[in-house]
Amino acid sequence: MLTGLPLEEVRRRNMEEMVGGAKVKRDIISHGEYQGVHRTRQVDVAKKLFGAMGIARDDKPMRQDWVLRGFRQFDAPVSLVLTYDRALDPGAVCHFDLGALCYGIVLAAWDRGLGSVINGQGIMRSDIVREVAKIPEDEVIMTCVAMGYPDDDFAANAVRSDREHNQEFVRYVGFAD
Ligand SMILES: Cc1cc2nc3c(=O)[nH]c(=O)nc-3n(C[C@H](O)[C@H](O)[C@H](O)COP(=O)(O)O)c2cc1C
Repeated sequence: MLTGLPLEEVRRRNMEEMVGGAKVKRDIISHGEYQGVHRTRQVDVAKKLFGAMGIARDDKPMRQDWVLRGFRQFDAPVSLVLTYDRALDPGAVCHFDLGALCYGIVLAAWDRGLGSVINGQGIMRSDIVREVAKIPEDEVIMTCVAMGYPDDDFAANAVRSDREHNQEFVRYVGFAD
């Protein structure tokens, strides 16, 4: 869990590297760019966010600024770095476990009035996070969670992503019998 100067260092170095065109260096394997319906959803939520923030489609500097905001972990005062024991690789089950823990943390935080953004952008340069947070090599860096008291006046915080209706993805079996 990071705050203060170490978190500032992660933000600064993460941003410098990514703006400078450095390659992403994550411990975990990525599926690459979103495709198909996943890409559509990504674009849809970006449109909503840019709309709420008044960022025009062709306003490249402001769009870039938004991306940087992600690399800065949304200027949150605290960042939780979630890791798992490398001995558990290849990870499917422990990825699931850590996801469940992450969701629990986010809900518990919300219950206490704290907002969170689970974010992969903050660990895109996992080597930097590892160095600054002194994370041992036998821990795999999975994701981080930016946390702080939400600013309700910040327009993007009012954006809600669209949800598929349950009928679209739940297969109900035996309920009509
Ligand atoms: C594993 C994971 C990584 C994410 N990484 C990012 C990220 O790097 N940047 C970002 O803006 N949102 C990221 N998100 C999305 C935000 O956390 C999002 O606000 C959160 O999932 C809730 O949004 P929703 O209600 O639209 O699902 C990520 C979500 C997950 C689950």
